[in-house]
Amino acid sequence: MPAIHHTINQYFMKIILLGYMGSGKSTIAKSLTEGQNSTSLDLDDYIVQAENSSISDIFKNQGEIYFRLAESKYLKELINEEKELVLALGGGTPCYADNIQFINKNAISIYLKASINTLFERLKKEKEHRPLITAFADDQLKEYIAKHLFERRPYYEQAQHSINIDNKNVEEIVMEIKDKLA
Ligand code: S3P
Repeated sequence: MPAIHHTINQYFMKIILLGYMGSGKSTIAKSLTEGQNSTSLDLDDYIVQAENSSISDIFKNQGEIYFRLAESKYLKELINEEKELVLALGGGTPCYADNIQFINKNAISIYLKASINTLFERLKKEKEHRPLITAFADDQLKEYIAKHLFERRPYYEQAQHSINIDNKNVEEIVMEIKDKLA
């Protein structure tokens, strides 16, 4: 009975954290669900498990388009599951296919908004597992982040809530999110 199935699913709240690489989506998702009934999940981790391959290997062997299609498929699969979930997206997830529309229709979306400087300071130390930025030297990386963020911001800004994360610790960000959702 698809109609009833659809109605029931609305009772399983999904919170979706989105934002650029390095904005802390996975850490905040974990922290948000600590001591709660809900679980947290990282979409990248789910893809790695389902595809039995690292994100870097998927990009290298199957290409980015394959990754984007898989990402969109698994996103929808997870949002349609009948359980509560806090889901940390990949940095590009809201910017492809109809993902942001699907998210906003079926879940609560929160943009973790960080400045170019914050992202640069974090990402220059964590380039290896991120195929889009692995090859950049530090001086090119900042420029890349600035341009990329400019392109992606219109998608991120479609989130229903937005939290500025610059100079805040995990507890402060989690408190702000809880306040917004209360
Ligand atoms: C990507 C971000 C990554 C991962 C992939 C592509 C992006 O996720 O999905 O490398 O397009 O910004 P994180 O934001 O968790 O690093």
